[in-house]
Amino acid sequence: MSTQLLKWAYEELADAGVASPQADAEALLAHALAVDRAEVRRLAVLGREVPDDAAHAFAGLVARRVAREPLQHLTGVAAFRHLELAVGPGVFVPRPETEEVAQVAIDEAAKVIADREGAGAVVVDLCTGSGAIALAVATEVPGARVHAVELDKDAHAWAERNVDALSAAAGVEAGATPEDQDPPERIVRLVKGDARTALYGIDGMADVVVSNPPYVPPDAVPVDPEVAEHDPAVALYGLGPDGLEVPRGITSAAARLLRPGGLYVMEHAEVQAEAARAMVAAARDDDGRPVFGEPETRKDLTGRPRMVVARRL
Ligand SMILES: C[S@@+](CC[C@H](N)C(=O)[O-])C[C@H]1O[C@@H](n2cnc3c(N)ncnc32)[C@H](O)[C@@H]1O
Repeated sequence: MSTQLLKWAYEELADAGVASPQADAEALLAHALAVDRAEVRRLAVLGREVPDDAAHAFAGLVARRVAREPLQHLTGVAAFRHLELAVGPGVFVPRPETEEVAQVAIDEAAKVIADREGAGAVVVDLCTGSGAIALAVATEVPGARVHAVELDKDAHAWAERNVDALSAAAGVEAGATPEDQDPPERIVRLVKGDARTALYGIDGMADVVVSNPPYVPPDAVPVDPEVAEHDPAVALYGLGPDGLEVPRGITSAAARLLRPGGLYVMEHAEVQAEAARAMVAAARDDDGRPVFGEPETRKDLTGRPRMVVARRL
């Protein structure tokens, strides 16, 4: 019965140290049954049987989760704001705290568009991974023209898949695909390359540059197997003794891409708040002048300092 299966899975997952055994058990049974979690709970309340093939698939999924494969790799989907993004081996699984970084970019882009009475805003997501931030902005802010850059071949392929899927969905909703016309443009312009040097065509034109770059310092190796063994190293480690070598390059790129008054927002680790502010304050143009106004640290919903925000001078 579904209740007994869920109870068994809960105990297996809890024993393995999985942080949210109940939610994961429900999500995996939902995946095995090809239904949503609300339906799983309904079936459990009604005491319904689980068909043998689904029960077998569920047992296999639970065994992989016990071995600490990320839940999102098993279901193939990561929730990010209102989106469901395809993820799997080779791409960083987007995190809830990054939803708040995206919110800053979304609020700023929406404000710019409102101030311009509807004329578009240019938003750049550097180090896009699965495309999470870029696609959140593109789908939540009508009129935003979103560019995204990803270096890693595998991550770029996941981003492309997500951009294609959500672009097709947007085109279908808009009824914009008559047979005699080109397909609608993709909702994010995705570029494969190094975010520190890519996108030269739009220098000084961006209204918002947002980034969740790799920033983990070399002495802060993650302990959770889901992260240590499954998030790609290129997505985690920011290089240099402080983990901020890549973020420094991203900050220079942001300075080049932003128009005067444009907003830069970058996620960092809790312990990097002061260093991230110093990094932004130290950014200089070719003439040695500061490029950003006073950087500010913002907290996530749990009160931890997790992003630096500054305006281009
Ligand atoms: C922490 S992950 C964040 C991914 C995504 N922004 C998110 O929040 O889910 C950092 C991403 O930056 C990519 N990356 C690392 N160095 C890069 C570089 N120099 N240029 C562009 N992308 C880079 C990694 O491959 C990875 O996808």
